[in-house]
Amino acid sequence: MRRVATARELREIVSAWRRAGERVAFVPTMGNLHVGHLSLVARGRELAPHVVASVFVNPTQFGPNEDFNRYPRTLEADVAQLEPAGCELLFAPGVEDMYPDGIQDHVRIEVPSLDGILEGAFRPGHFSGVATVVAKLFGLVQPDIALFGRKDYQQLLVVQRMVADLAMPIAIVAGETQRESDGLALSSRNQYLSPDERPRAATIYATLRDVAQRVRAGEPFAAIESRARDALVGAGLVPDYVAIRRDSDLSEPTAGETHGLVVLAAARLGKTRLIDNLLIDNELAVGA
Ligand code: PAJ
Repeated sequence: MRRVATARELREIVSAWRRAGERVAFVPTMGNLHVGHLSLVARGRELAPHVVASVFVNPTQFGPNEDFNRYPRTLEADVAQLEPAGCELLFAPGVEDMYPDGIQDHVRIEVPSLDGILEGAFRPGHFSGVATVVAKLFGLVQPDIALFGRKDYQQLLVVQRMVADLAMPIAIVAGETQRESDGLALSSRNQYLSPDERPRAATIYATLRDVAQRVRAGEPFAAIESRARDALVGAGLVPDYVAIRRDSDLSEPTAGETHGLVVLAAARLGKTRLIDNLLIDNELAVGA
C-alpha cells in the first residue's frame, strides 16, 4: 500500500488508474480504524480494482467543546490494518494540506434540509464541516464509488443529497453497521467508555430493537420514543434524542406508517457521546 499526504502525489497515482479506465472506490475516514471501517474497504474492493482510503481528523466538523484534540490518532496501526483489508493507497493529509489558507474563509457546503435536525441540532455546523471535507476529498481523489457506513445514517443522507444536488458523478454505497457481540455499534469513541460504562452502552441497541418491534405492533410513535428515552435514562444514559423518522429524508412519519422508517438515537454516557440507528424494515426482515 502506498501512503501519500499531498494532492499532487495523490493525483499522479489516481489519474494513471483513471487513464487506464480502471474504477476507483474511496473510503473516507478519520482513522483509528476498526472492523466497521475495514468492512467498507473490503466492500470497495468487491466493487472496484482500486481502493483509496483517507485518514484525516477534520477540525471543521468538531464543535468548540467536542473531542477534536483527544480524538484517537493511530496512523501506524491504521496503515497496518488497511493493506490486508484491500486498500491500495492511503491519503493522510495534514490540516495545513487540506486548509492551507485556514478554515475561516474556506468555501462551505450546507445541506439545509438535513443539517439542522437531529445530530445537526445538537452539533451545529457539524454536517457542513462533513459535507465540505467530503466534497473536497471527492475532488482530490476523484473516485467512481464512495463508501459510507449506515452507522452514521444522517451523514450518509447528507452525502447522498450533496452528490445529487451538486451532480457529482460518484456512486454512494452504504455499508452495514458492524457491532460488538452485545450489539454496541463499533466506534472509535467506544474506547472513551470506562469498564463500568461499557456494558451499559449496549442498552442503545437493545432499545432500538425494542422500538422497531413496537413500531411493528402499531404503537403510537410518541409513546414509543418516550418509553425508549426512559429505558436509556434507566441505564444511566442521557439521551439527546430518540426519533422515528422516514429513512429517505428523516422527515417525521404520520401515524400508521410502518415501512421505510428508521429509528435514530444519540445519548451521552459519562463523557462519551454515542449514536446509533436501526432501519425498521431491515429489522422486520430478520423477523426480530
Ligand atoms: P469515521 O467516523 O472515521 O467513519 C468513517 C466511515 O466509517 C463512515 O462512513 C462511518 O459511517 C463508517 N463507520 C463507522 N463506524 C462504523 C460501523 N460500526 N459499522 C460500519 N461503518 C462504520 O464518518 C467519518 O469518519 C467522517 O465524518 C468523514 C466521513 C471521514 C468526514 O470527515
